[in-house]
Amino acid sequence: MVVVAILAAGRGTRMKSSLPKVLHSLGGRSLVERVIKSVEPLSPSRQLLIVGYQAEAVKAAIQTISSLEFVEQTVQLGTGHAIQQLLPHLTGYTGDLLVLNGDLPLIRTDTLQKLLQTHQENQNAATILTANLPDPKGYGRVFCNSENIVQQIVEDKDCTTAQRQNRRINAGVYCFRWHNLAEVLPHLEANNAQKEYYLTDAVTQVGKVMAVDVEDYQEIVGINDRLQLATAYEILQTRIKEKWMVAGVTLVDPNSITIDDTVELQSDVIIEPQTHLRGNSIIQTGSRIGPGSLIENSQLGENVTVLYSVVINSTVQARTQIGPYTNLRGQVQVGAGCRLGNFVELKNTQIGDRTNVAHLSYLGDSTIGSRVNIGAGTITANYDGVKKHPTKIGDRTGTGSNTTLVAPITLGNDVYVAAGSTVTEDVPDDSLVIARERQVIKPGWVSKKRASQSQP
Ligand code: UD1
Ligand code: CA
Repeated sequence: MVVVAILAAGRGTRMKSSLPKVLHSLGGRSLVERVIKSVEPLSPSRQLLIVGYQAEAVKAAIQTISSLEFVEQTVQLGTGHAIQQLLPHLTGYTGDLLVLNGDLPLIRTDTLQKLLQTHQENQNAATILTANLPDPKGYGRVFCNSENIVQQIVEDKDCTTAQRQNRRINAGVYCFRWHNLAEVLPHLEANNAQKEYYLTDAVTQVGKVMAVDVEDYQEIVGINDRLQLATAYEILQTRIKEKWMVAGVTLVDPNSITIDDTVELQSDVIIEPQTHLRGNSIIQTGSRIGPGSLIENSQLGENVTVLYSVVINSTVQARTQIGPYTNLRGQVQVGAGCRLGNFVELKNTQIGDRTNVAHLSYLGDSTIGSRVNIGAGTITANYDGVKKHPTKIGDRTGTGSNTTLVAPITLGNDVYVAAGSTVTEDVPDDSLVIARERQVIKPGWVSKKRASQSQP
């Protein structure tokens, strides 16, 4: 049985941000959400999240995870002080406590499992995760004896020059026998460079403490500033891309592509260069996305193509071709076998199957049927300066080039709109509508005008 505590009360001063550090986003999820996800498969009996700096914002951002209990650390006096706040919540608890820093977004569940196992098999009072880093700067250094028993943890700021040479660092993941830790916690002191109560001081007072090295040190990068955030992003991207390539997705020039780990791809999807896939997007088999496209929170069916285009908060059915230069701005549902073309912007619009919007159009707040042909330069005038109004277009209807549809308006099924029309009234099924001035030709007009101008 294990209880988990995640430290998320700090401000994260080194981020130089108004956003609490643990809410910074990394590949589609906040830092703290990632840590929470990493412990989920361990099925902890309780999960305590220690919040403090902008506690309400942190709570609001992760309130959907119902199994969390929030513990407030109203002033942030260090990681040891943060864990002291657990004392009233865990009185009488006899099991183990797994503690994780909230700024540790890449830790793997397997690693945590291994730590717990070592802890339990050796009946340690505490077991901590360590790593040997090429550049240990900023991390607490861990000093062990030849049996891997931790003797001392010294924060970077408190290290002597000699101590600083030690590359074995504290990852910020600890497993404690809770009752041993609970005895030590009230006696922590803040005798250090930062005048903080360090959890690392408690570690060496609880009894037998063992260190376990992480296999892949990239897992334990702690995010203190934006440089580390960028480093972690790169590591995460490599992981995500490897996963999809192994699963049968082609990434053309992977270094120029970014993929959130909330995205789902099916086999035989092809992602072309300079393409970015974000949020809860799903792309089905046979689709080809890019080059130069952004897909965010959108679902794309089988064999869809997207070229130099943006698709946000939208769904697209099978075989539809999008781009180049299409912008699906949000709340767009496109049917199967459609063509959306050059310089076309759609917003809050539903389109039936096999409908084309091929060139230079804006369609907003519209419902459009199947097998419709929207002519080049067709625009819905959906906004009167105060309110947005709907446009409805039936099946098999066609608009001529440069049509303006002044909403609210409904065009029936099988309607033809003459090119250059400004349509202001509803049009019934099976009709031609011409809504423009009739052309006037005046033969001989030019020569007469010139003759009159040349007279003295
Ligand atoms: C900490 C460790 C260091 C380790 C490193 C790993 C201590 C004293 N040092 O240093 O040995 O190498 O992590 O990344 O623990 N927090 C609170 N309340 C506080 C202070 C911090 O909840 O009063 C939270 C922060 O939000 C953060 C975590 O604790 O998620 C770690 O704090 P941080 O200031 O980043 O510690 P480091 O200096 O990185
Ligand atoms: Ca840190």
